[in-house]
Amino acid sequence: MSTVAVVTGAGRGLGEAIARELAAAGTAVALAGRSVEQLEQVQKAIEAEGGKAFVHPTDVTDADAVAGLFRAAEGELGAVDVLVNNAGIAALSNLVDLDEGEWDRIFDTNVRGMFLCSREAGRRFAKRGQGRAVNIASVFGLVGRPGYSAYGASKGAVINFTRAVAAEWARFGAQMNAVAPGYFATDINAELRADEAAMAKVLRRIPAHRMGDPDELANVVRYLALEAPDFLTGQTIAVDGGESSV
Ligand SMILES: NC(=O)c1ccc[n+]([C@@H]2O[C@H](COP(=O)([O-])OP(=O)(O)OC[C@H]3O[C@@H](n4cnc5c(N)ncnc54)[C@H](OP(=O)(O)O)[C@@H]3O)[C@@H](O)[C@H]2O)c1
Repeated sequence: MSTVAVVTGAGRGLGEAIARELAAAGTAVALAGRSVEQLEQVQKAIEAEGGKAFVHPTDVTDADAVAGLFRAAEGELGAVDVLVNNAGIAALSNLVDLDEGEWDRIFDTNVRGMFLCSREAGRRFAKRGQGRAVNIASVFGLVGRPGYSAYGASKGAVINFTRAVAAEWARFGAQMNAVAPGYFATDINAELRADEAAMAKVLRRIPAHRMGDPDELANVVRYLALEAPDFLTGQTIAVDGGESSV
C-alpha cells in the first residue's frame, strides 16, 4: 500500500509543487483547499504523470470541514501517513493601519488552520505510533520585516508550534518539522513582483539574488515527509537563498 498524504492549499503555488512532488514519489495525495477547480487541475496533472490524487474542498479554518477532510482522505486513500500544512495567506500593512479583521483572518488561516489539521492528524498518528507533519512557515517567522507584523507573528507561531508538537509526538513515534521559505514566485507575492523598485529592493536582500523555484521547496518537504530519519523532529529549515543568514 502506498503512503498517503494530506496537503492543504494544494491547488496552486507551493502547495501544488509539494503535492506533485509527493505524488511523483509514489504517495497518494488528498488535495485540500477552497478553490475546487484549481484542485481538480492539480489532480489531473498528477494523474497524467501516473500518480494518485483525490480532491476534497476544505476551508482549513472550519473544524468540521477539517474533520471531514481526514475522514474522506482515509475512506478514499487509506490511513493518513503525512500532513503538509501549507494553506496560508499574507497581508502587507504597517501595524498602525492594521485592521483587527485582517489580523484575525491571518491567524485563523495560518495558525488555527494548522492547529485543526495537526490535531486530526495527531489523533491518528498517536493510534498508529507513526506519522509525519511538515508545516510551511516563512523566513518572516525567523526575522522581523516592516509591514509584516501579523504575518510574521503567525509564522513565528508556526515555528514554535512545530517545536512543542514535535516534543509531544516524539513520545509515540511521530514527527513534526517545518520549512521556512524565502521568496518564491506565487500568487501570494504577485503584487510585489509587479512593482519593479520593490522587487529590486527584495533581491538586494537575498544573497542568491533570485527567487526560489517551487520545486526547490517541494524537494525539502519531500525529504522531511518521506525520507528524513525519525530522530529529526521539531526543526525549521529555511529554504531562502541565504536571506535569513545575513
Ligand atoms: N511564496 C512565497 O514566497 C512564500 C514565502 C514564505 C512562506 N510562504 C507560505 O507558503 C504557503 C503557500 O503559499 P503560496 O506562496 O503558494 O501562496 P498562494 O499561491 O496564494 O497559495 C495559498 C494556498 O492556500 C490556500 N488557502 C488559503 N486559505 C485557505 C483556507 N482558509 N482553507 C484552505 N486553503 C486555503 C489557497 O487555496 P484557496 O484560496 O483555494 O483556499 C492556496 O492554495 C503559505 O503558507 C505561505 O505563507 C510562501
